[in-house]
Amino acid sequence: MDDLLAHSLLVVTGKGGVGKSTVAAALGLAASRRGLRTIVVEVAAREDISRALAADTASAFDRRSVARGLHHISIEPQRAMEDYLRERLPVRALAGWLSRSRIFSTLTAATPGMRELLTIGKVWELCQPGGAEPYDLVVLDAPSTGHGLAMLQAPRTFASVARVGPVARQGRAIASFLGDPRRTAILAVSSAEEMAVSETLQLRSRLREELGLELSLIVANAIVRYRFTGDDERKLRAAPRSPAQHGGLFMANWARHQRAQLARLRRGTAGVALVTLPFVFGSALDRASLQQLSRELER
Ligand SMILES: Nc1ncnc2c1ncn2[C@@H]1O[C@H](COP(=O)(O)OP(=O)(O)O)[C@@H](O)[C@H]1O
Ligand SMILES: [Mg+2]
Repeated sequence: MDDLLAHSLLVVTGKGGVGKSTVAAALGLAASRRGLRTIVVEVAAREDISRALAADTASAFDRRSVARGLHHISIEPQRAMEDYLRERLPVRALAGWLSRSRIFSTLTAATPGMRELLTIGKVWELCQPGGAEPYDLVVLDAPSTGHGLAMLQAPRTFASVARVGPVARQGRAIASFLGDPRRTAILAVSSAEEMAVSETLQLRSRLREELGLELSLIVANAIVRYRFTGDDERKLRAAPRSPAQHGGLFMANWARHQRAQLARLRRGTAGVALVTLPFVFGSALDRASLQQLSRELER
């Protein structure tokens, strides 16, 4: 955990619905408990984390505090573009007009990777020391696998296309930051389900082949902790039918399926550290269960 939290940026990606936002929030809580000034960043107007962590429902596009030492922000490309222009154009009104005008939509629509570049550029800015309120750690709740990879790829693409000038310079700076394993760690969240495991294996090989990067950690999330032995299970099968017996057998099958998928995940990602997080029973994940998961992560 110390090694992980020593990075400037943790990028959390994986298949949709596997628990990326949950793990990002748990990491944020663990970091802030250790006294690190931390910000959890969501992209494209998602507010999953702020909903779980904060009671109020005010706009998440402005940075806000959700716990002691823990901030949250949601980044949206349109806003990132406005900020970018505002910082570079002498006339504020002009920046606003430019970003509202069709130039923005035309540019982003016509330029593949532009939205990703603007978003990751904003994340990179948050990682820079010497800002007004510098952070020790930025946790990025990244989009799911394909879009997550596109986001990591965008700065390189722009740097090589632009070659010279400010876009190329910034693209190179961001790309080298993302490519430096001492500053940026990439985490894959996976559930122990067939599709999620396949996507995690794909994510790892694409990261290696297309970006020359390696995963720092795999978090296998929502694993059922099942402590029945083979003997217990045989007794359960022989027991008279009842809802409890039915529930027990259901859990046994679920756990067996998960064990098989976890083994597949481990085999396919040899060399990468893997931790498991328990399935938390209950209706919705609230702050208490996020705290519980963050302590599990630390353990
Ligand atoms: N360990 C867990 N145990 C139980 N439910 C979980 C766990 N992790 C995530 N969930 C639930 O699964 C759903 C998807 O999680 P979320 O973090 O939003 O995934 P993602 O960000 O990858 O789409 C949410 O309803 C969340 O509360
Ligand atoms: Mg999410």
